[in-house]
Amino acid sequence: MIIAKTREELLEQLADWRQHGDRIALVPTMGNLHSGHMSLVKLAREHAERVVVSIFVNPTQFSEDEDFEEYPRTFERDTRRLKKPAADLIFAPEVETIYPFGLTNATTVSVPRITENFCGASRPGHFDGVTSVVVRLFALVQPDVAVFGQKDYQQQLVIRHMSQDLNLPISIITAQTVREADGLAMSSRNLYLNDEERKIAPALYKVLSEIGTKLQDGRRDFEALEAESAAKLTAAGFVVDYFAIRRAMNLEMPDRDCDELVVLAAAQLGHARLIDNVVITI
Ligand code: PAF
Repeated sequence: MIIAKTREELLEQLADWRQHGDRIALVPTMGNLHSGHMSLVKLAREHAERVVVSIFVNPTQFSEDEDFEEYPRTFERDTRRLKKPAADLIFAPEVETIYPFGLTNATTVSVPRITENFCGASRPGHFDGVTSVVVRLFALVQPDVAVFGQKDYQQQLVIRHMSQDLNLPISIITAQTVREADGLAMSSRNLYLNDEERKIAPALYKVLSEIGTKLQDGRRDFEALEAESAAKLTAAGFVVDYFAIRRAMNLEMPDRDCDELVVLAAAQLGHARLIDNVVITI
């Protein structure tokens, strides 16, 4: 497996694969890889002959009071996990490679509307950072396919919107969330949970799943369902940021007849900000 740290190393290898007609899949990550990431890598392999995993903790998607400095960096371990046959190349650039004009002079790609609520409202500037780095990774790697996780539901919709709007010739694939045995969605930030919080954390998925069942059973009092669920999470010890039932395709308010819904939530538990969602097809 190849580790490319510079643009030149990356482009040289990609040119060679393209010459052989290989399709290329990209899995963008911030490292600290867990089984959730590995499922994205596995899915990427099903869609392309060559799999590139980028590892880059992107400073522009963290606000000043967030965990950019503490974000776990585990490059040696990640490299071992990605050894072939998992990935063909790890792209691990420096900040200067991704932002050659510097962070304050960098071009920003900003998706309107769908970024305004939920994580976009609680984390101002976060999605501008995500789209700006993803478009840069797309421009460098020029993949045929890129894979993102469903756990970050709003993120994958934002990236789909950006790719379609900019006519990027890249298929965006969304991989199902991988869960611990007790239902907790795998996430690098689960590391921030202490033992007590770790026992409480699966309640997030439990409450989301309960709503799924109620929607399947025909309940359509969306606001009451949201309030009930948020109250359950608060009682369990979470500080709820949002809990919402929306149209799965665009996060707009659903009407009674909407047959594809997403229930999405974010909540703070100790130092960990947990997000999760379930998609309901009726
Ligand atoms: O989901 C993530 O890990 C990040 O937001 C991403 C897509 C790698 C961009 O930095």
